[in-house]
Amino acid sequence: MLTVSNLSVQFGKRVLFDEVNTIFTQGNCYGIIGANGAGKSTFLKILAGDIDPTSGSISLEKGKRMSVLSQDHFAFDEFPVLETVMMGNKPLFNLKKQLDEIYAKPDFSEEDGVKAGELGVDFEEMGGWVAESEAGSLLSSLGIKDDKHNLLMKDLDGKAKVRVLMAQALFGNPDVLIMDEPTNDLDFETIGWLENFLANYDNTVIVVSHDRHFLDAVCTNISDIDYNKMNQYSGNYTFWYESSQLAAKQRAQQNKKAEEKKKELEEFIRRFSANVAKSKQATSRKKMIEKLNIADIKPSSRRYPAIIFEQEREAGNQILHVEKLSKSIDGEVLFDKIDINLTKGDKVVLLSKASRAATAFYEILTGSEKPDSGDYKWGVTTTQAYLPVENSKFFDNDLSLVDWLRQYAKTEEEREEVNIRGFLGKMIFSGEEALKQSSVLSGGEKVRCMLSRMMMTRANVLMIDEPTNHLDLESIQAFNNALKNYKGTIIFSTHDHEFAQTVANRIIEITPNGVIDRYMSFDEYLENEKIKELRKKMYA
Ligand SMILES: Nc1ncnc2c1ncn2[C@@H]1O[C@H](COP(=O)(O)OP(=O)(O)OP(=O)(O)O)[C@@H](O)[C@H]1O
Ligand SMILES: [Mg+2]
Repeated sequence: MLTVSNLSVQFGKRVLFDEVNTIFTQGNCYGIIGANGAGKSTFLKILAGDIDPTSGSISLEKGKRMSVLSQDHFAFDEFPVLETVMMGNKPLFNLKKQLDEIYAKPDFSEEDGVKAGELGVDFEEMGGWVAESEAGSLLSSLGIKDDKHNLLMKDLDGKAKVRVLMAQALFGNPDVLIMDEPTNDLDFETIGWLENFLANYDNTVIVVSHDRHFLDAVCTNISDIDYNKMNQYSGNYTFWYESSQLAAKQRAQQNKKAEEKKKELEEFIRRFSANVAKSKQATSRKKMIEKLNIADIKPSSRRYPAIIFEQEREAGNQILHVEKLSKSIDGEVLFDKIDINLTKGDKVVLLSKASRAATAFYEILTGSEKPDSGDYKWGVTTTQAYLPVENSKFFDNDLSLVDWLRQYAKTEEEREEVNIRGFLGKMIFSGEEALKQSSVLSGGEKVRCMLSRMMMTRANVLMIDEPTNHLDLESIQAFNNALKNYKGTIIFSTHDHEFAQTVANRIIEITPNGVIDRYMSFDEYLENEKIKELRKKMYA
């Protein structure tokens, strides 16, 4: 269906892909995985025709159409919802625009009539006349009710917007659907909805993600980018992960008998074939089990960054005092009259049902936004570092990474190249890599740079908005451990369960009716019946 032939991609000396050959076939869902900076987004851009490879080619079967889920949640803000959806079928949308223009002419000539007639035939063939009603019913099936179809995109809340963009990508039933990290910026509920949707979707899906749970829920195949190649495996993420661990182990046990290795492999296959979830996965799993050969699986070459947060000096006991703080955006109350007192060593996971609440809270505490009312005060001995969820403005320049990080150095000593390179090296940018331009960085690489910057401040309070967004699993693990070991105070928000459970010792939920504030683990908080009741009341 979609064939990649002899694809090579190189930026300067850096080779991303070397003679890659692979095929994506009808009806499968391919999860593209690989370390930050491996080339996943680049690969999708090449598939979509946005950039050209250094050499090689992509060919989509004749008559088939590909569509891409827009990553930019604001790009269509000025367009009506229904029109945004119809733009998903570009050829059709362009044709409609041409027709509309001709019919809008005040001096409609005979020539125009002929032209309109010709275009009309094509339009008819592409199902143009029913397109609008199809877009409408697609929206409704995704939970966007009729009364919203004529609003502008900017008047929708974040969750609804994501669904409209999804409808745009799905409009006209594309044969291949491409998505780059679709779960970033989504809440648990919407991610669950997307998982369900894709698991039941019949056409080909190619999706990049670092989210283990998501990959397991939707993928029939895994395409791992490593060693400048792309290797395809049948099965979901956990299967890929476990079999590559086994491959690494067996390779290390050189002198173990072939017979024993075979037994181990059979045991592994038995374990995996027992818990088949979805029927789509069941078929592909059968195929993969028939074919599995551990010698074909390459253990991964991924590396862990070294994330260590130190404090220049410890803070006193009083960290932060928040009094009656309130904020609404576009008429939505994010939080109202919240009181919070942070003490040294608190590791707080900040929760809210309103997707923008935590970000607004941090923006206020860092002085970039004003609250509607209320006040806050940082302890005099505190120094704060903030990892924002949206970082593009930091990278809108042509500095090399070394110069980029140097901007944030405070002393002469910190500004020295060896020191800067030390921090970049910990984030796996070494040699030439440290000299590349900050504007070409991949999503995860940008976050790694932001982490270098954060480490360099040696602050005693960390504010972190969605730590796992964009990061690969190795970086998430390293970041997770760093926060567990950090001796200062942390306030963070995350949609990663594991992260919340292992780092937090205190849970604060900010609501339109004040806060729920408990010293306990994240799991205890979620399971506690009294808190469940309370949450219902607080959001009512
Ligand atoms: N124009 C360019 N010039 C030089 N290097 C580039 C250019 N564009 C991308 N790169 C580099 O190519 C590598 C691959 O980038 P890409 O965005 O494809 O990674 P990715 O696999 O999507 O990573 P992530 O998981 O972080 O999103 C990165 O190291 C990036 O810095
Ligand atoms: Mg990417």
